[in-house]
Amino acid sequence: MTANSLTVTDNRTGKVYELPIELGAIRATDLRKIKASADDFGLMSYDPAFMNTAACRSAITFIDGDRGILRYRGYPIEALAERSTFLETAYLLLYGELPTGERLDDWVYQVTHHTWVHENLKKVMDGFHYDAHPMGMLVSLVGALSTFYPEAKNGVDVETRRLQIIRLIAKMPTLAAFTYRHSLGMPLAYPDNHLSYTGNFLNMLFKATEAKYEPHPTLERALEVLFILHADHEQNCSTNAVRSVGSSRVDPYCAVAAGVAALFGPLHGGANEAVLRMLQAIGTKDRIPDFIRQVKEGRARLMGFGHRVYKNYDPRAKIIKRMADETFEVTRPNPLLPVARELERIALEDEYFVSRKLYPNVDFYSGLIYQAMGFPVEMFPVLFAIPRTAGWLAQWQEMIDDPEQKIARPRQLYVGQGEREYVPIGLRG
Ligand code: SDX
Repeated sequence: MTANSLTVTDNRTGKVYELPIELGAIRATDLRKIKASADDFGLMSYDPAFMNTAACRSAITFIDGDRGILRYRGYPIEALAERSTFLETAYLLLYGELPTGERLDDWVYQVTHHTWVHENLKKVMDGFHYDAHPMGMLVSLVGALSTFYPEAKNGVDVETRRLQIIRLIAKMPTLAAFTYRHSLGMPLAYPDNHLSYTGNFLNMLFKATEAKYEPHPTLERALEVLFILHADHEQNCSTNAVRSVGSSRVDPYCAVAAGVAALFGPLHGGANEAVLRMLQAIGTKDRIPDFIRQVKEGRARLMGFGHRVYKNYDPRAKIIKRMADETFEVTRPNPLLPVARELERIALEDEYFVSRKLYPNVDFYSGLIYQAMGFPVEMFPVLFAIPRTAGWLAQWQEMIDDPEQKIARPRQLYVGQGEREYVPIGLRG
């Protein structure tokens, strides 16, 4: 009997089974040999919302939820936020190592020179109402990109794959800025290849009549750090969507569009928008106790708090909270910041939240910074989707290269009706 195994007795038959344990897990398919009878399908594992199921092996991002640790390819998020750039971090996530100076220069050059999109995408934009939500527009635009690059269906070919990855990382800011300018009824601003990734994004968002837009260095760096923090987060809801859709071997544009759609949800990437609306609804510190009461009665949710994995303070939230002060030195101070800080203080002392291990997550403070930078709340999840595209593509690529991966097709526990006779409409009750 090997040490690394589980011995299971099926009390229905008295049979004993040995299940190998690898990387702290058993293979769900090993359960199929546990049968109550010869024609039994065999046991399955039942895990709604994948609360305790690993769907893949991954070497990209490591999270220790109890200790509040987050590392990209082994590098602590704190070090990357302080010393790296978003494009360098994107390269690390995708290719596993920090790039040499020469490789980084080539990577930045490639991304910089793929920021333009086909002019026909502007006709897609024209079809949206003036008040269309930017995330709804972004889902459509990313999916539409796939129609311009039919060769992208060959995701297995490394060079084809690399070009699509560069295109998607390069064009997300352009599409995101298009949605913002559309919502304002402003003419689209085109990329400026002399600016950094985040500087060019700010240019496409905020350029007005000046001949050349000059991004504020503090805001340019703040956006760089926020993009690094949001770049990947192992098997979150939207990454699971990208891996699952990508497992059908659809092109990466459609797979990433699925990720954008999942990220739009208020429980996921839409949470930073929901945090701002929550803080605006609370309004002032003196109304916090009443809101906390509503949360405890189940009539409200403390958005920006809680996490499926972190049962400690989200390390990204700590960095963003520190960044808030630096950002507000160059923008107008956000009157909601004191409300957010008091809400956090009260929640961290309240048994209801402490007992449920609910701490601030990445979304609790990010919205305050985005708002201070001049973004409308509807743009917040879009600002999450841009950097997360690097993580989604790294995870998609890892899935494509994983010999164990196949098309994702979960099983079910059928609890519906047995066979029934068809009932003519005149005899139906
Ligand atoms: C992101 O997965 C990722 O990595 C995501 C992300 C990433 O980088 O990709 O980190 C980004 O999505 C961050 C999370 C943003 N979402 C929010 O801030 C929305 C508010 N938080 C939640 O709705 C909730 O905490 C989740 C969705 C984040 C996690 O939910 P779980 O793991 O399914 O936990 P749960 O809903 O089962 O809650 C457990 C208990 C419940 O209470 P009881 O039923 O046991 O009494 O905690 C309560 C919940 O009611 N609870 C909350 C709460 N979050 C959980 N109660 C009040 N306010 C909250 N925010």
